Amino acid sequence: MTRAHPETLGRLSPDGRWGGAVTRRALPPSDEALALAPAVRARLASIWMSQAATEARVARSFQMVHESLTRLDVDPALAALAARAVDDEHRHAALCEDLAGRYAGGPCGPHAALPHTPPAHPGASPRLRDALFVVGQCALNETFASAYLGAAYQGARTPIARAALRELLEDEIDHSRLGWAYLDRAPADLKRELSDWLVPVTICNLREWRKIALPDDDALAAHGVPPHEVAHAALSEALGGLLLPGFAHVGLDTRALERWIRQGAPVPELGPELAERAS
Ligand SMILES: [Fe+2]
Ligand SMILES: [Fe+2]
Repeated sequence: MTRAHPETLGRLSPDGRWGGAVTRRALPPSDEALALAPAVRARLASIWMSQAATEARVARSFQMVHESLTRLDVDPALAALAARAVDDEHRHAALCEDLAGRYAGGPCGPHAALPHTPPAHPGASPRLRDALFVVGQCALNETFASAYLGAAYQGARTPIARAALRELLEDEIDHSRLGWAYLDRAPADLKRELSDWLVPVTICNLREWRKIALPDDDALAAHGVPPHEVAHAALSEALGGLLLPGFAHVGLDTRALERWIRQGAPVPELGPELAERAS
């Protein structure tokens, strides 16, 4: 039985990926969570609750991705995948609340409602803005998410953390594929326009990922929370090893992105030019 809050569970669709269930497989017992020191349990419960709030905010982003894909007149299968992703992210929020409850020793939630501020992309045409939203949320954000979760999974040792991370990872990989599938079939003129925005949208996305508060050591790694250094290395690897070749593969001009990565992928504070291009 899940420990997620009824309000969070109420957002799940019976038509979702697992027919209204939060996870594909039943989660294992988590007795080891109760054996931890109270401070560690409280810290892990708080981390999973923050994650629940973030997942719910991503559900709102996917609502926008779905609307963008519909306006872009893509293959209905792609738009349907985006609609399913809204439910996937609500399931993730419920899963994270469940984990928080296991560490807290009792039900948690509902998670906080985070403000949702979609990027404005000022100066872009409505069509380009729709495409940028798909690229930012799916190709960029979900690829970084998959890299982060992969690193967390590698270090996770407890059955509950491994099971939860595997469930999340399976969906996030699908969500990133949605972005790549869209880009692969995007019209050539739109690909040219998107190429000009690659560096600023990547900087904006990576900036958010680098802000995540993580431990300096591996104290929580067994419970699925990687050290700062490990997570950042995974993000850098995804940048050079997945995103750069991925964007080139789908036919975008990646020369500026490659130059920026070669410079060490600096993420400056938002300057005037970036604010215009990528806010
Ligand atoms: Fe998610
Ligand atoms: Fe996702």
